[in-house]
Amino acid sequence: MRKDIHEQNRRSWNHAIAAHNSHKGDQAGFLRRGGTTLFPEDRDLLGDVRGRRVVHLMCNAGQDSLSIAALGAEVIGVDISDEAISFATRLSADSGIAARFERSDVYDWLEAAPPASADVVFSSYGALCWLSDLHVWAAGVKRLLAPGGRLVVIEFHPALYLLDERDGAIVIAPPRADKIWYEARGIGDYVALSGEGLARGQFEPGVQDFQNPEPSSEFCWTLGEKVDAIARAGLVIERLSEWPYANGCRMLSPMVDIGDDRWVLPPEFPPMPLMYGLAARRV
Ligand SMILES: C[S@@+](CC[C@H](N)C(=O)[O-])C[C@H]1O[C@@H](n2cnc3c(N)ncnc32)[C@H](O)[C@@H]1O
Repeated sequence: MRKDIHEQNRRSWNHAIAAHNSHKGDQAGFLRRGGTTLFPEDRDLLGDVRGRRVVHLMCNAGQDSLSIAALGAEVIGVDISDEAISFATRLSADSGIAARFERSDVYDWLEAAPPASADVVFSSYGALCWLSDLHVWAAGVKRLLAPGGRLVVIEFHPALYLLDERDGAIVIAPPRADKIWYEARGIGDYVALSGEGLARGQFEPGVQDFQNPEPSSEFCWTLGEKVDAIARAGLVIERLSEWPYANGCRMLSPMVDIGDDRWVLPPEFPPMPLMYGLAARRV
């Protein structure tokens, strides 16, 4: 467990989230008009959430949490970033969609949460790479789930860690000595790079040429390590799917928009998985 890294990441996320939200226009109006930030793959994996207690771990600024709440779920969103939670709390009030948001390191929150108090635990798109210990997280998720409850994860594929970008071209990533990917430039403004992909028709120029003053560190877990940690915690894997596109996020600038807010690698690359989703049940 690397709480020191989590705290540094919190500082980096605080800066990044303010820049990200500057591009997303009138989000409360979008949600009030019945807009959703969930992708079809998210909806499919989540299933029917009406009346369910959903905990959205690493919920960022709450757009997906509120989209889930709008489907009739009782939602708690948890995130380490102060900026994320104050934005999400405001967004809930302004959109009129009820949800509870709590600022906490996910590990502290899972430890303090009442056991068996969630029907669904959800995490998506760039969440698991911030976890410094997969086994402690998976055990905490299992403890939080009521019997029959499900963990739903939809994520960018670890295969993307093999790629990097240099001078506007995709290149093989440089060798890394360990699992920790330190980024001196911190979390970048991938929302600006993705345009409508993450702004859902609301894109605004917002903050220009964002420079994050706070470095960040990700953990480069493989798909096998994640599935193994979930299975070893005692959850039963029910679904595992991979897709050759990434929803919403242009991870590398040469990626190509194929419509419906999806991005693929340029045609010179073989099709490789860019996203995966899984569902695991507490029996
Ligand atoms: C890429 S965002 C997830 C985006 C999400 N799919 C959404 O609904 O917008 C990753 C989030 O993880 C949060 N995070 C990173 N480390 C964390 C930790 N140790 N505990 C809780 N949240 C954390 C960050 O603050 C950030 O908001």
